[in-house]
Amino acid sequence: MSTKVAVVTGSNKGIGLAIVRALCKEFQGDVYITARDVGRGQEAVKSLNSEELKPMFHQLDINDLNSITAAAAFFKDKYGGVDVLVNNAGIAFKVADTTPFDVQAEVTLKTNIFATRDMLTHFMPIIKAGGRVVNVSSVVGSRTLNKCSAALQQRFRSEDITEEELMGLMQQFVDLTKKNQHKQGGWPEAAYGVSKTGLTTLSMILARRLSRERPNDGILLNACCPGWVRTDMAGDKAPKSPDEGAITPVYLALLPPGATEPHGKFVSEKEVQPW
Ligand SMILES: NC(=O)c1ccc[n+]([C@@H]2O[C@H](COP(=O)([O-])OP(=O)(O)OC[C@H]3O[C@@H](n4cnc5c(N)ncnc54)[C@H](OP(=O)(O)O)[C@@H]3O)[C@@H](O)[C@H]2O)c1
Repeated sequence: MSTKVAVVTGSNKGIGLAIVRALCKEFQGDVYITARDVGRGQEAVKSLNSEELKPMFHQLDINDLNSITAAAAFFKDKYGGVDVLVNNAGIAFKVADTTPFDVQAEVTLKTNIFATRDMLTHFMPIIKAGGRVVNVSSVVGSRTLNKCSAALQQRFRSEDITEEELMGLMQQFVDLTKKNQHKQGGWPEAAYGVSKTGLTTLSMILARRLSRERPNDGILLNACCPGWVRTDMAGDKAPKSPDEGAITPVYLALLPPGATEPHGKFVSEKEVQPW
């Protein structure tokens, strides 16, 4: 049988690195740290080597389409596809950051939703039967959903929203912030939150598509929240360590063979959450 492989985006530090640490211990196969910066990625490999763990490394900048397609081709060629994909890479402006809101909106959505969508576009076709896909979203996305207009909430919760409609809505938010009209458009003042509302919705759309188009492949795809975790993004006051933050994403990445659920859900503390 060919070697299995797990790939974690943005895993040179924080929750991503902790996910790789746990997968090195629990996943039967090769586990890849990926990072946009080769030096930071190799340092992360060394840090796990000092714990007697042996992750592998591949460069992957999710904002660079060439980097995404090169990585997808590498995993297809070397492993015949990917068994576990964790889309963890993400960014957030600090609360105190004075960058204009429209710029925050554009930059945050570029990585957290548009680039993650590019990852999924190029990696979903190479996810192997029995594969697991985990999108690291946030409970902030659920709270932000509840702050959207009733009309937007209805679309994000509907079973018939398409990927194209969702991406159109995400772009509409970015465009409206440039005219300072996002509030009239039914959007809250929350760039990170909207990006994660989008990522959770995208996860639900893609899970429904998997069920339709690959019903016999047993692939499970979910979004999750790691909790509030001490990382460069969230700061040192958060209650959870990165290893604790990795627990729910790793649980979803390692759902046992033959499991049929959760699928297309938003999961936190290993429990399916309302949407
Ligand atoms: N920490 C929390 O409390 C919390 C709560 C809910 C959800 N989350 C989510 O959990 C995920 C991980 O966050 P974290 O707290 O571990 O943050 P972090 O410590 O800031 O780590 C973010 C990781 O993403 C990488 N990254 C950013 N842009 C990238 C790109 N274009 N291509 C590839 N990698 C990229 C970063 O790489 P560089 O080192 O090169 O910047 C870094 O490795 C994020 O999706 C975040 O939204 C976090």
